[in-house]
Amino acid sequence: MSPIVLVGPGKDLVEAHRLLQQMRPALRFCYPDDSLAQAAEVAICWAPPSGSFARLPQLKLIHSVGAGADPIIREPSRPASAAVCRIVDPGHCQGMLEYVLWGVLHYHRRFDQILANQSQQRWERLTQHGAQQTRVGVMGLGQLGKAAAEQLARLGFATRGWARSAQPLPGVATFTEAQLPDFLDGLDILVCLLPLTERTQGILGAETFAHLTPGAALINCGRGGHLRVDDLLGALASGQLRGALLDVFEQEPLSREHPLWSTPGVTVTPHIASSASLSVIAEQILTNIDRQQAGLPLFNRVDTALGY
Ligand code: GLV
Repeated sequence: MSPIVLVGPGKDLVEAHRLLQQMRPALRFCYPDDSLAQAAEVAICWAPPSGSFARLPQLKLIHSVGAGADPIIREPSRPASAAVCRIVDPGHCQGMLEYVLWGVLHYHRRFDQILANQSQQRWERLTQHGAQQTRVGVMGLGQLGKAAAEQLARLGFATRGWARSAQPLPGVATFTEAQLPDFLDGLDILVCLLPLTERTQGILGAETFAHLTPGAALINCGRGGHLRVDDLLGALASGQLRGALLDVFEQEPLSREHPLWSTPGVTVTPHIASSASLSVIAEQILTNIDRQQAGLPLFNRVDTALGY
């Protein structure tokens, strides 16, 4: 079979390469500047550098090493005829759930304010509320969003979910795309687990924040492109938001000079909310390579028009 081309930077890619080679010693791997790459039918990547695919005329399958394939879909040199696939790891939900629960509990139990008080040796027994009094909204009801919303509802939070189309979920009040204002109105904590598409780009902005309860908190584990950073800074300065837990950024790593590092109320985590396990990544990529070679339908194929 033709060599498999590894496109772009990324620790995940290097590790996936090592494991794939170990699992299938017969496969040949190369990088885009290698002359062998011209013949490659399969590319593996996370965030391809601009123009990457222009030199790869034979591509039939572009496989993401992540759950999202948005950086691949957005790349203008991507050949429209190549299938794009992503990783779907059921274990991914557990990590995301832990991250979202940590964030929701942090704001719900007012640990943000308690930790700020500690830094001033201030003993103040802030009023605590029951979970049913905290309104949490989950944007995006894909595999991860659904699991998070269901679990939050099970824990007693007044939980809402928002998705493009109707998604009944036990214990969760769900809203469709057109009902966005109703979904947002009066939320105490907004969690973003949306895919990044043309419709969701910049959705976390002033207009959205204005619907929330004054002093609400934001948790973004979708993509950096969902957030309008200037609007967030404005909402934090005005007190419309009291905090933001951010795991994803337009440019990663976040540059050392970025204001988000030091804005009061902002917690930055380095895109660690959750990721697929390396063994699942390698297995799913190998399965799809075999299926592509055999002319069989691929697993976890992304609808490039929808963007997920
Ligand atoms: C991480 O954000 C992923 O898409 O896997």
